Amino acid sequence: MNKIIILVMIMAGSLAAQVKGDVEVPYISYEIKMGEGFDAIQANCLMCHSFGYVINQGPQSKDFWAKKTKKMITHFKMPMTEDSKDFETVVNYLFTYYGNGKLK
Ligand code: HEC
Repeated sequence: MNKIIILVMIMAGSLAAQVKGDVEVPYISYEIKMGEGFDAIQANCLMCHSFGYVINQGPQSKDFWAKKTKKMITHFKMPMTEDSKDFETVVNYLFTYYGNGKLK
């Protein structure tokens, strides 16, 4: 009997420990840089996912952004062609504002 009481006390104690203190949800802000070409991003990319998807990749090379944009076309059927003006605009925008300075 005593063992059961002790067991219940231990269990209740650990439950209380789990909810003790404040729970903080981290706030992550995605800074959208309004610059030349952003309208092309808005028109071509944000119909499927948020801008966070794009910029949480961190600063990347021009080649990386071109490959990601191509991936959107080939894998996810983004309505854009690789030789279009929009393709160039989007890649240039991404490299200018979210680039790491490297072409490859
Ligand atoms: C037709 C829908 C569609 C469009 C338009 C689109 N994407 Fe995506 N994108 C996706 C999907 C689907 C994923 C993957 C989601 C997942 O894995 O959870 C994704 C993921 C991503 C990722 C995350 C990395 C990765 O490889 O999965 C990046 C970066 C990205 N998209 C960039 C872009 C950019 C830049 C544009 C505009 C030029 C764009 N997307 C337009 C559908 C789209």
